Amino acid sequence: MPFAHQVTILAIESSCDDTSAAVIRDGRVLSNCTANQEVHRQYGGVVPEMASRAHQANIIPVVEQALRQASVHKEALSAIAFTRGPGLMGSLLVGTSFAKALSLSLEIPLIEVNHLQAHVLAHFIEEPVPSFPFLCLTVSGGHTQMVLVRDVNSMEVIGQTRDDAAGEAFDKAGKLLGLGYPAGPAIDRLAQQGQPRFAFPEAQMPGLDFSFSGLKTAILYFLREQLAADPQFVDKHLADICASVQHTIVSMLLRTLQRAAHQTGIREVALAGGVSANTELRQRFEALGRQEGWRTYIPAFEYCIDNAAMIGIAAYYKYLRGEFCAQDVAPYTRGFQP
Ligand code: KG4
Ligand code: ZN
Repeated sequence: MPFAHQVTILAIESSCDDTSAAVIRDGRVLSNCTANQEVHRQYGGVVPEMASRAHQANIIPVVEQALRQASVHKEALSAIAFTRGPGLMGSLLVGTSFAKALSLSLEIPLIEVNHLQAHVLAHFIEEPVPSFPFLCLTVSGGHTQMVLVRDVNSMEVIGQTRDDAAGEAFDKAGKLLGLGYPAGPAIDRLAQQGQPRFAFPEAQMPGLDFSFSGLKTAILYFLREQLAADPQFVDKHLADICASVQHTIVSMLLRTLQRAAHQTGIREVALAGGVSANTELRQRFEALGRQEGWRTYIPAFEYCIDNAAMIGIAAYYKYLRGEFCAQDVAPYTRGFQP
């Protein structure tokens, strides 16, 4: 039997193309299991309809795996948490409907979580945790946001991309270079053997906003011009092109992060999201932190990418505040708040 004070939450994440389930007990991760969807690779991006179908196929095996790895029976659960949004509607509906059905049958509360707030709260899964207030730059395939975090339930988006996300910039550049999808990890790997010899324009946005769509166009024109003169240009200079693209994206991110820190006077600074796996971003972020006197935080890789453990942590804080949702709750596709 569970102890009376134990809070055990099953969390489900299905906002995009990964089906993930995690079991969190008293804020500690007991399991975090994810099924990736390889089906999208051949299309160079996530195909929403295929993502929903794959979630349908994966969700029960992934949940069973998470419960088994945690050695937790369904009857011991205190609540069911799920990602309500933002994300792809068809994908979100699978996790939402599953979570509702399970909470109803087990007669336990239901907790809805915002995916972007959960990326920020991934910093509370493991030590060291940032102190409040802190700045969190969330960089993923779908989002680029500067978040001022005052408390676990008090966050403000103070800057964001006006078009493409940082991960999307990596992925689109990689597509032009024939690197497959997602291209971020491949660009990271190739860049390590090259030098940033080619200069791409860095868009300057007012305030703390970002813009990455111009970069894709600049790379396209650059490649067109070079390939007209030398059809082997990409093959010969792939590592240097990757290093240059990566250098440009990282510079744009860090320049705005530095400005945000100066404007707010905050020196607790964190990265979140899948792009924080990037080697150059991590190295230059740490170096900038030393130069600026920041304390810097990056979660473990498995908690940077989309995962259910971060949904579970966010849900744990909601559980402690008694923030449960009704069975008629519906997903939403955009936004930082419901
Ligand atoms: O957070 P995430 O797993 O999913 C979203 O919520 O989007 O982020 C995936 C994104 C993809 O765009 C991928 O190309 C990028 O993160 N990414 C990287 C690296 N690893 C993943 N980008 C650059 N360097 C990496 N090492
Ligand atoms: Zn995400």
